[in-house]
Amino acid sequence: MTLDLTLDELLTTTRTVRKRLDLTRPVPMELIKECLEIALQAPSGSNRQGWQWIVVTDPDVRAAIGAIYGDVAARYLTSKHGAGALFADDPARSSIQKRVGTSAEWLGEHMGDVPVLLIPCIEAGETLPAGNQAGLWGSLLPAVWSYALAARARGLGTAWTTLHLQREAEVADILGIPATFHQGALIPTAYFTGETFKVAPRDPIETVLHVDRW
Ligand SMILES: Cc1cc2nc3c(=O)[nH]c(=O)nc-3n(C[C@H](O)[C@H](O)[C@H](O)COP(=O)(O)O)c2cc1C
Repeated sequence: MTLDLTLDELLTTTRTVRKRLDLTRPVPMELIKECLEIALQAPSGSNRQGWQWIVVTDPDVRAAIGAIYGDVAARYLTSKHGAGALFADDPARSSIQKRVGTSAEWLGEHMGDVPVLLIPCIEAGETLPAGNQAGLWGSLLPAVWSYALAARARGLGTAWTTLHLQREAEVADILGIPATFHQGALIPTAYFTGETFKVAPRDPIETVLHVDRW
């Protein structure tokens, strides 16, 4: 069963969900598998499909990962580079950033309570390649975004997060991830509360579009 959304609505309203993640409602594993089946249709370089997906539901394991995430998030969000402190000299952007900061703080405190934590991984040898890594991450992250879209279509909220990667090795230890696999994100997933989501304000296309040359 999917929500009654047009494709453009799906693409423009798949927001980062934090405070509206329902921490009390269990998420069936079948629903997560359905979203992952869709994710596996994404492209990967040479069709290698070098991805592996860890779905964490065990409360103790979630709590251990949540503690690491929360610790990194608290340090980051209280620093001068934290999301809430960005664009301080632009009143319109600054007020949005402050909201992002508060919302991110909330997630930092609750990551371990979210019913499902998804950790997508990619095989790349023990050491990540030097130079441009677009080919590597481009072979994982489109699938992760497909997962988020499929989840949204099924009434599940997700938040793309990466802060825990500062302590990636500790999370790898907890989950038994082999040394040749690298984590791409940590995606808390839960049913969302409330009705729907809005299209987000973004910088106008004129400020980012180049036709024929920079
Ligand atoms: C690569 C990447 C890393 C992110 N890392 C985090 C994170 O660690 N914690 C968090 O709360 N949000 C994280 N976000 C979410 C962004 O803050 C969010 O996408 C942005 O504020 C725009 O909001 P929207 O996705 O609802 O449009 C990340 C997003 C991306 C794309």
